Amino acid sequence: MHGLKVGETVTVRPPRNDFPLGDWNVPALLVAGGIGVTPLVSMVTECRRRERPVRMLYASRSRDQMLFVDELRHLLGDDLSLHADEEAARPVDVASLVDSCPPDEELYVCGPQALLDALLDEARRRGWPPERVHFELFSAPPMQLGDQPFDVVLARSGQTLRVGDDQSILACLEAAGCDVLADCRRGECGVCVVPVLDGEVDHRDHVLSTAERDAGKTIQICVSRARGSRLVLDL
Ligand code: FES
Repeated sequence: MHGLKVGETVTVRPPRNDFPLGDWNVPALLVAGGIGVTPLVSMVTECRRRERPVRMLYASRSRDQMLFVDELRHLLGDDLSLHADEEAARPVDVASLVDSCPPDEELYVCGPQALLDALLDEARRRGWPPERVHFELFSAPPMQLGDQPFDVVLARSGQTLRVGDDQSILACLEAAGCDVLADCRRGECGVCVVPVLDGEVDHRDHVLSTAERDAGKTIQICVSRARGSRLVLDL
């Protein structure tokens, strides 16, 4: 927007919801971690308005860091559970939480990566289909210890770029002036997917299915990396 001049024409699209309230015919469990409660307040309101069965777990480090508690109590009554790590002297018991879900309940999670990873892990272990867990993160996943630089070859232009150990492929391409599509930059939306022609991918996204990961033919370039020293992309 900073570069716009008076009289220029811009294309405006309506807002896109990357975290919609899926199937209205089944109950929903909303799990908020810290500030992740923000979008869930609206979701609770909408579920109540449309009479969708809903319950919520709101976890935070301490009670005084919790927001919207009065509003949520008013909306949810006994269907609201609060968990303060400091009072409980432990984090949320994620395994018990997943065990408490009836077979048709969908899970909606908004919070830190660790909470999401734990919930996804427990859900996977119980054989839940991926589409039963919906989530939104507030930050891009951090680089992992031991991440190494690697080369990305752009097959169409023949260009080779070096991706730093603390850099995403997306950031590297943008720094090189490539015009690539991206949206969430957190591995959630799927927009930045690129076909892989050669090399092994270290998948770190939350979009691709297990079959797609195993096939190794696509990569979400905002978060995923190369397992070896080189990836060839169809760009
Ligand atoms: S930009 Fe959303 S998955 Fe990469």
